[in-house]
Amino acid sequence: MGSSLEEAKAYLEREFGKAPKIAVVLGSGLSPFAKTLRESKKVSTASIPSSVKSTVVGHFGELVYGKSGSTSVIVLAGRVHGFEGHSPTQVVHNLRALRLWGVKKFIITNAAGSTSRKHKPGSLVLIRDHINFTGLNPLTGLELFGGPRFPDVSDAYSSKWRKQVLQIAKKLKFKMSEGVYAAVNGPNYETAAEIRMFFKLGADLVGMSTVWEVLALIQMGAEILGISCVTNFATGVTKEALSHHEVIETTKSVQKKFNLLLEKILQASN
Ligand code: HPA
Repeated sequence: MGSSLEEAKAYLEREFGKAPKIAVVLGSGLSPFAKTLRESKKVSTASIPSSVKSTVVGHFGELVYGKSGSTSVIVLAGRVHGFEGHSPTQVVHNLRALRLWGVKKFIITNAAGSTSRKHKPGSLVLIRDHINFTGLNPLTGLELFGGPRFPDVSDAYSSKWRKQVLQIAKKLKFKMSEGVYAAVNGPNYETAAEIRMFFKLGADLVGMSTVWEVLALIQMGAEILGISCVTNFATGVTKEALSHHEVIETTKSVQKKFNLLLEKILQASN
């Protein structure tokens, strides 16, 4: 095991004690969920041994331990991305540390563009599957973390957990559908031709995160739920130009709905 990960795990133990069962990773603009936790304690992600800094507007750079309802949860509001210049290994470092510490279930969220008119900005979409279009993989290398060399990813986004969440959404009267997420490196938004290609390949959503994290966690035996907040129609779906500002504004408009859904999911996963 890499000693930097062991140090990160020891740091989490020292700061927070026993690991909760569940973690949430918050996507761009979705960080305010971390503020809804009670009895919370937070650290800056920069203080986790060997972690790299998040530089993106809309990310707090914090790891927060607290309670949502009666469920203990650790919330990472400080994801790092490949486009910031980090390797897949660096991007998944904090998640591997959380898994080593003992967290079993992970809710991974992100902001994403929609490759068609099917999923409108403001929709929350459960990730059913993904396409890793980054050309990179955090599992490259010799570190196996006690997991398999060739992990099976046929149920990477737990079908059992998704079923439960669709029921929760129904009870809340939220329209929720499922989709396939294609991951790109960014940082530019895609060309219209690229989006037409992704749509033809079966991708409903496109974004610059998530898949490396999911691959690393699946290999370490975690259970995963993926939620995309659709922030915009991807390039060429409409005539609008894209901007990070638009992405953040849309997440603001769905924050209440997003927070409520997460709260209910956490309650049911206790
Ligand atoms: N493309 C890639 N990443 C994104 C988008 C997009 O349209 N929206 C939010 N993240």
